[in-house]
Amino acid sequence: MHLGETCPFILDYKDESGLIHDVDGNTFANHLAAWGAAPYGPFPPTVRKAMCDAWDRYGMEISCFLQSPPVVELAERLIALAPGKITRVAPTVTGTEAVEGAIRLAREHTGRPMILTFLGQYHGESTYLAASASTELAEITTGSTPYAPGLMFAPYPSSYRGAFTREPGSVDDSLVIDYINDWLLRHQVEANQIAGVLIEPIAGELGVYAPSGSFWAGLTAMCADHGWVLICDEIQSGLGRSGAVWAGDLWGLEPDLLLTGKSLSAGGQPMAAILGTDAIMAKTNVHTTGTYVWEPGAVAGALAGLDLMPAAIDNALQLQEIGRQKLGSLVERYEGIGDYRQYGAWGALEFVTDKASKRPDPSTQAAFHQAALRRGVFAISFPQKWTYRLQPELTMDPDLFAWSCDQLAVAAEEVLS
Ligand SMILES: Cc1ncc(COP(=O)(O)O)c(C=O)c1O
Repeated sequence: MHLGETCPFILDYKDESGLIHDVDGNTFANHLAAWGAAPYGPFPPTVRKAMCDAWDRYGMEISCFLQSPPVVELAERLIALAPGKITRVAPTVTGTEAVEGAIRLAREHTGRPMILTFLGQYHGESTYLAASASTELAEITTGSTPYAPGLMFAPYPSSYRGAFTREPGSVDDSLVIDYINDWLLRHQVEANQIAGVLIEPIAGELGVYAPSGSFWAGLTAMCADHGWVLICDEIQSGLGRSGAVWAGDLWGLEPDLLLTGKSLSAGGQPMAAILGTDAIMAKTNVHTTGTYVWEPGAVAGALAGLDLMPAAIDNALQLQEIGRQKLGSLVERYEGIGDYRQYGAWGALEFVTDKASKRPDPSTQAAFHQAALRRGVFAISFPQKWTYRLQPELTMDPDLFAWSCDQLAVAAEEVLS
């Protein structure tokens, strides 16, 4: 990805009402939300004030060596929010570093080499992750794959586009569990060589796909049986995006390691974290540090953001209802829209040549994106992809969201009828 490769607009400013203004005078409803890193609006006043106060008081400081009270408070707040037996926090600057750290923790804890992960997920673009887990697009992975040993893959358990079917047209993602058992564990790697499972509870970049309850039952049983560390990457899905605090809460998941980022920054400075159990993190030698880790201003902004989260989740659930009602009906209306998924403030339309074959249709998706832009809706679209993703601020005014959905319905009529 190069600067400006896919987006022709240059930002002039964003405003609190959920609009983006570009330097050419165009205005769009903002369905990007800084890829999820600005969940409460561009720069909420309480976040700004907390950050400025912390800057004035503490300045820049390296928090992994010299901590300040906000750092301790944020760790405690995150632990209180985390499910299950999570009691520990390791700070990182980016989500990518959190994923890398979690893989190292799982390997250290178990003394095993392999990580089981799922095709189509996205975890960042460091050498290791671009080489391995970032298989959302082959072009991200190509060129790096030879440099990433220790990973094995199953297809992502998709609710719509399953790799395996019992009968034509059906999707049953518990077949992914059978594939792991009957193929990977039988023919590729013994279970006692696997340290952990790295999974996005809802796969955002892939197109907001969520596994079923029966998949989770199968996966968590395997983790328990084989002593695999369950690593949930909630860097995109966590802290309200899915309409729950953690997307894993939708299925009652209790991961051993839980990764957060994006929304954590609350529209302020970059920050992310690994949350984990005592068993894994109390006596670790894995360092996940860095010069800019949990710098006090960033931490103060994150704390102010957590205060905004409960109301933002209530709003996200309203957006969910509007989206399901207004965009859900497009699936019935058009042969070329195969599926629509919406969890909280997170939705995806899936473009297909026809419903029976579900063959991906990136060119119609790209044309739809252009039609939506002409009507003032700016969401996440790549020309190679057939899913079109809505990822607004959790706090987007429901009226603006409803208006956006209406514009998308007109755009669909333009490109599909
Ligand atoms: C699920 C997931 N994991 C990890 C990352 C990487 O996070 P960062 O861009 O902060 O390094 C992303 C970023 O989009 C993500 O969506």
